[in-house]
Amino acid sequence: MLTSSLPSLLLLLSLSSNFLNVALSDDGGGLFCSAPSVFETETAASSSSKPLYWKVTNPTLSPSHLQDLPGFTRSVYKGDHALITPESHVFSPLPGWTNTLGAYLITPAMGSHFVMYLAKMQENSKSGLPPNDVERFLFVVQGSATLTNASGAHHQLMVDSYAYLAPNSKHSLECDASATLVVFERRYSPLENHFTKQIVGSTDQQPLLETPGEVFELRKLLPPSLPYDFNIHIMDFQPGEFLNVKEVHYNQHGLLLLEGQGIYRLGDSWYPVQSGDAIWMAPFVPQWYAALGKTRSRYLLYKDVNRNPL
Ligand SMILES: *[C@@H]1O[C@H](CO)[C@@H](O)[C@H](O)[C@H]1NC(C)=O
Repeated sequence: MLTSSLPSLLLLLSLSSNFLNVALSDDGGGLFCSAPSVFETETAASSSSKPLYWKVTNPTLSPSHLQDLPGFTRSVYKGDHALITPESHVFSPLPGWTNTLGAYLITPAMGSHFVMYLAKMQENSKSGLPPNDVERFLFVVQGSATLTNASGAHHQLMVDSYAYLAPNSKHSLECDASATLVVFERRYSPLENHFTKQIVGSTDQQPLLETPGEVFELRKLLPPSLPYDFNIHIMDFQPGEFLNVKEVHYNQHGLLLLEGQGIYRLGDSWYPVQSGDAIWMAPFVPQWYAALGKTRSRYLLYKDVNRNPL
């Protein structure tokens, strides 16, 4: 009995060397699958009173709780994917922004045609503009900021609000206290006689869309129409739900896990992930997600669309 089950247990553990590292390096009895630690108990008791997406900026075990594990990170960088976890974030001043620290999580140096970064706006901070012909998408995960555009219109962006700014459209984001945003930028891929417009909204205002053959809940934050060369999907999974399609496709992705935890498969690697984690997926990397834990998983996903890949 023992001899027949041991090899399969080892096989299971070796599916993810990271998981093995975590399981073996934790002398308290398993970080992801055992009795709750002190931190998790506190978290469960108080999570209902916390603001939406608070785990993105206060992730379990990271970064302060990992200070006891010198040299340990769950981050991985490979040819066709990367997992960038919060203990690896390196913030520095963002070019053109004032009183703002940024961490670029995905850039063309990895092979992407877009950048994805976190912007931590501090007191009296202000955004800079993206380079010419570059479009921008902003999503607030903490705090609030005010968007002002060239017509002088103001929008207060709270947690869960977002804005799309067309290429070369003058705008600025200002913050009195503090705000954390996830930002996507890419060089716009123009189509004759099609132009994008400014979009401002929030996730909870977007309708649920059909997902034939799948169980997750899907919202799209941008119009699916031809002018837009990317979209941002918000995908919700209840614990135990998973993607039915083991996706392999030409589109590239930048993902930020906003809530929950689970297992992300990327190529032949299986990663335990939690809110605050970011993922880069190159074209054609096999990808699959299963939600675990006790709470909903929600992630935000960049996807290039509407253009001939040639
Ligand atoms: C500025 O924002 C207002 C309100 O959202 C919008 O009607 C207007 O078209 C925007 N101006 C530009 C130049 O995008």
